Formats: sequence, structure tokens, C-alpha cells
Amino acid sequence: MSNIIILGAQWGDEGKGKVVDLLADRFDIVTRYQGGHNAGHTVYIGEKKFVLKLIPSGILRGKQAVIGNGVVIDPGALLEEMDTLAKTGIDVSQHLAISNRAHVIFPFHRMVEKVSEGRADRVAIGTTSRGIGPCYEDKIARRGIRVADLLGPGFAAHFDQLWKDKETFAKAFQIEVTLDYAQVKADYERFAARIAPMVVDAARLLNQAIAGGKRILFEGAQGTLLDVDHGTYPFVTSSSAAAGGACTGSGVAPTKIDGILGVCKAYTTRVGGGPFPTELHDEVGERIRKAGKEFGAVTGRPRRCGWFDVPLMRYTSAVNGFDSLIVTKLDVLDEFETIQVCTGYKVNGKVTDEVPATVSEMETVEPVYETIAGWHGSTRGAVEWEKLPDGAKRYLDYLAEKVGVEIGCVSTGPERNETILIGGSRFSKLID
Ligand code: GDP
Ligand code: IMO
Ligand code: MG
Repeated sequence: MSNIIILGAQWGDEGKGKVVDLLADRFDIVTRYQGGHNAGHTVYIGEKKFVLKLIPSGILRGKQAVIGNGVVIDPGALLEEMDTLAKTGIDVSQHLAISNRAHVIFPFHRMVEKVSEGRADRVAIGTTSRGIGPCYEDKIARRGIRVADLLGPGFAAHFDQLWKDKETFAKAFQIEVTLDYAQVKADYERFAARIAPMVVDAARLLNQAIAGGKRILFEGAQGTLLDVDHGTYPFVTSSSAAAGGACTGSGVAPTKIDGILGVCKAYTTRVGGGPFPTELHDEVGERIRKAGKEFGAVTGRPRRCGWFDVPLMRYTSAVNGFDSLIVTKLDVLDEFETIQVCTGYKVNGKVTDEVPATVSEMETVEPVYETIAGWHGSTRGAVEWEKLPDGAKRYLDYLAEKVGVEIGCVSTGPERNETILIGGSRFSKLID
């Protein structure tokens, strides 16, 4: 094996940061390929907690970190994250490469987002307010400013054009622009000078590394159900979080990818708006939230909690072609007498596992549950499959069988070592 994609199989926050940190040691380079600082990847190293937003989690292992062309970069946020890491002794600048083709987020992107999220005639998506969507809008509309443009001689003219565009937008929506043109431009010229030494043709870097026998770990942000194409549109993010995005967002060809690993929780969570068939609005949901400390790593918002959803997992497994699943937060279910698993959706009296395309259909599906006995024991910190309570093993075997993908790794706590790597699995061969 050499090049592996690790990505979220649900609505984000599946524990990708922990898993990437755990496996990064076996790779030479860790690269992000989409999203921006809307991501919050938590890594615990002993007592120390790190929340990586834009910088690939592999940086904590001293690995070469790459921010690919598919990522949107708020340079202010990036430099802040670098400074925070520097305070803990991690010198990012020595290890980070930034794609010259990644698009740049400006303060006016946050202004545009505020307007579209706040409009009375539009349902709010519940975004992270980081300017992610409007920056991708400019990218797709072919008027965005990329890192290479920020650093190039044409920046002033390009900035001026995009600024005028946003002024027109502000006029149309009758909002006052409180941003200062000269200040923003000067800030970005300053940012440009600081990031310049790290800016490269990242696709060239990655492809040369692959040609030289190096191993690349692709770190997904968000999750497949937030993917702009395959997610619960329009309640999605604006990037390609699914496996295909790893290639378009890095410039590495699909023929160079050796394996795809999906990270999912032993239950389901979601932050922000949008349909969620197995969501629990009662004290059981509250119990999961409390036991799993389910509060957003970026915004601190309480995460919505619900049971494991097999149809959704079958769907994301198909879209991504998962070789293996990594199930996290098993320990969170330790105290439950019984656990429910949604095995199908009842639609017009018929049970199906097809995931509907529209929000209105998604909101009316009736989950069909099977009840599984709890395991009356602790899985917290378990590192061996054999040491798991029988009920927990049965639960995991049941999930793998229903989803139709093996479970190759189980996370039993937030720390690196609180993990079971299942021997003889496809997963173990891929990471070997
Ligand atoms: P990411 O965005 O996918 O990297 O996930 P987040 O970091 O946003 O959220 C996952 C949260 O669960 C973090 O606080 C992790 O420290 C924590 N976590 C990860 N794996 C486990 C686990 O197996 N058990 C428990 N209890 N917590 C975990
Ligand atoms: P990680 O990488 C969970 C959600 C937001 C909102 C929607 C659109 O930590 O798993 P955006 O700001 O991206 O335009 O918001 O997507 N969202 C996430 N939810 N984990 C994330 O990242 C997320 N990034 C965005 O809550 O519903
Ligand atoms: Mg997160």
C-alpha cells in the first residue's frame, strides 16, 4: 500500500483527526484536499489537546503537510493556527506546503455568507460562518483569487475587481459595507509575504513524491453527507468531501490511490440544519450528547445526536468505495441498556434502503429500527478485539454485516492509543 484516503462517512466530526494522527506515522505526507477552516479535527496527545482546522493533522507527527488546491484558505486563520501551534513548539513553516492553486477567502466572503444565512426568504443552512461557501462560489464562477494570484503582480487589479463585485452585491441586498478596502488589501499583502515561502505547485510536489516511492495520506474534512454532490443538498458544505474530491482537490490521479477508509461513529451526529432521519429529540439523544461530549470543535454548537443509520452508511460506502470502516466512539454507548440501529426507511408503506434526493422526502422517511442489547461493560481504552465485551463485538459485527463493509479499526477513546487495529483485515494490509 502507499496512498490512502481517510474521510468522513457521515456528517463530519467522526473522529478523522484522531485516526489521521494515529496512522500518520506510517506515511510520509499528509494532505488536505477540500474544505477550509470550517473543519475542526481534534487530536489528544496525552493531556494536550489540539484542534486542527486548516493544517493537516499529520503536522503533529512532524510529517510533511500539504494544503491542496481544493482547499479554500483564509490566510489570517492559517497564520493564527500556525502561531498557536508554534507556541506549543511545533514549527509549521518548516513542514507545510500550500498549493498555489488553492482559493483565498476574504472578509467579504463572510459578509456575503451572513446575508445569505440571514435572509428571511431563505432557510439557513447553519454554516460555520467562515466564508467557505461564498469563496467556493467565486471559484466556480471563475472570478476567485487563488494563492498564486494573491502573490502575483496582478493582485491589486484582481482584488479591485472582486471588491467591486461584492459592492454590487451589497447594494442589491441593501447592506452597508463596513469593511475598509485599503485595510483589507494591506492585510492580504502582509499575509502574502508571510505565506509566500510555503507556496508551491502542490500537485507537482505530491506526484513527484509518489514517483519517489513516498506514501501519501489524504485527510478528508467534513463528511460524505455534507459533500456538495452526494450530501443532503442544500444542507451541505460547498466542497467535494467524498473520495473523488481527494483527486480533484490534490492533483493526484485516481490510479495512484491504493485504498479508501471511511470513518464513522458507532452512532450518528450532525451540526447545523438539514434532515437527520435517526435524530433523537429526547433524553436518549441528550445522553449520547453528554457521554460523547458532542459539541462542535469549531463553533461549540451542540451536535444533534441519533442512532446508527445503515441506509446512509450503505449509501456513503457505495459513493466512496470504502475498503474498510473505522468505527469511533464505541465507548460512548457503554452505558446503554439497548441500542437501536436503523436498518431501512419506510416510504409509502414500503421498506427501502434508498436515500432520497430531496430534503422533503428525507424528512418524511420513517426509520425502521432493530434493537440490539447493550454490553454492560466498559470498552473505554480497549486495544484488543478479544478484550471487548461480547455484546460490543456482536454490535460491531452486526454493523459490518448490515453496511456490507468490514470494520478494520475501532476507536475506544479520544487518545491515540485507545484504538483496536483488527489483525487480518483489509485495513491492516492497507496501512501496513
Ligand atoms: P473530526 O472532525 O472528524 O476530526 O472529529 P472532531 O474532532 O470534530 O470530533 C470528534 C470528537 O470525538 C473529538 O473530541 C475527539 O477527541 C473525540 N473522539 C474521537 N474518537 C473517540 C473515541 O473513540 N471515543 C471518545 N469518547 N471520543 C473520541
Ligand atoms: P469536520 O472536518 C461537521 C457543516 C456546518 C453546516 C454545513 C455547511 O470537523 O468534520 P459550511 O461552513 O461548511 O458552509 O457549513 O456543514 N460543517 C461541518 N459539520 N464537521 C465539519 O467539519 C463541518 N464543516 C462544515 O455545520 O451544517
Ligand atoms: Mg470536526
